[in-house]
Amino acid sequence: MKKQEIVMIPGDGIGPEVTAATQRVLEAAGANIDWIPQQAGLAALADGNDVMPAATLDAITQYGVALKGPCTTPVGKGFSSVNVQLRKKLNLYAAVRPVRSLPGVKTRYENVDLVIIRENTEGLYSGVENEVTPGVVMSMKVASESSCTRISRWAFRYATHRQRRKITVLHKANIMKLTDGLFIRCAQDIHKKEYPNIDYQELIIDAGCMRLVQDPTPFDMLLLENLYGDVVSDLCAGLIGGLGVVPGANIGDEHAVFEAVHGSAPDIAGKNVANPLALLMSAVMMLNYLADQRGDPAAGTIAGRIRAAYDQTLADECKTRDLGGTLGTDTFADAIIERLPA
Ligand code: NAI
Repeated sequence: MKKQEIVMIPGDGIGPEVTAATQRVLEAAGANIDWIPQQAGLAALADGNDVMPAATLDAITQYGVALKGPCTTPVGKGFSSVNVQLRKKLNLYAAVRPVRSLPGVKTRYENVDLVIIRENTEGLYSGVENEVTPGVVMSMKVASESSCTRISRWAFRYATHRQRRKITVLHKANIMKLTDGLFIRCAQDIHKKEYPNIDYQELIIDAGCMRLVQDPTPFDMLLLENLYGDVVSDLCAGLIGGLGVVPGANIGDEHAVFEAVHGSAPDIAGKNVANPLALLMSAVMMLNYLADQRGDPAAGTIAGRIRAAYDQTLADECKTRDLGGTLGTDTFADAIIERLPA
């Protein structure tokens, strides 16, 4: 593998524990990475910086790729979300969250294999909120034709490259006729004009959620606006074993930030019980991205070895507490390292 310079943001809560475990596995697997450490979240605030320091954004702009632990956003006035800022300022418009059944992790369904594509920059996370009059507040849902078209095209292109068969848009255009109406119109246009060979379906999101929990197996890819994508990602995590096993990538045309779907889990921080797998899987997505985008096939080979090792670890019933096991964050990483194929 070529030497790759990657920005590393440990984050808050369980972030430093799961990033350390992930770095150890990557190093043991032979990933040739020069980590560029940067801060965000409470860790940055404690150092007298903004929750999303300009230096961190500059580093991601310079190096192009980051692996990020979860960051706590302080509740209350004056702090905008680290993640919303990061995604908007770097234009990381596509969130990709693969959700698949794992060996050794028993859940209600056995053959879940979904990819969630979430629009990452608009919708109700536009951050435009105001007090109309005391006791009445307003939050603005923004949808632009260019962004809805961009995420739709990205999703269909992904479906084509990854040999996926169907995209389902979950929406509420029956109520939000302008915003969600625009979203589905753009998706329909891209489907009809550019990717008619991929199956396309629309479902009103409440009925869609019911069908997902009744039986997720008929679904293949989900395409959603920002807030729906956030909520449905956690719902789908619940189908396959929880937040400890769902990775994610935030991808733009120039930069990409890889991070788990879960947050900083303050309830278990510092106890060495967090599952590092979601971040490790995000790192595997990162290695595959490096293979594709930077012409580094060896990075893809290492990704495959790590994936084989964690699948085997779970199949051997070596698991962290969230999956019913007894291993700690560090001993689970050790178990994966022991199973890395030669
Ligand atoms: P959370 O995802 O941190 O935790 C929800 C539940 O899942 C908790 O019971 C937690 O213990 C468990 N959990 C999460 N990750 C786990 C793991 N790897 N292993 C085992 N159990 C795990 O969500 P919550 O509590 O709503 O948010 C906490 C903080 O995280 C908030 O400040 C929120 O803003 C932030 N957050 C940050 C994200 C990011 O940086 N990408 C994403 C989501 C939330």
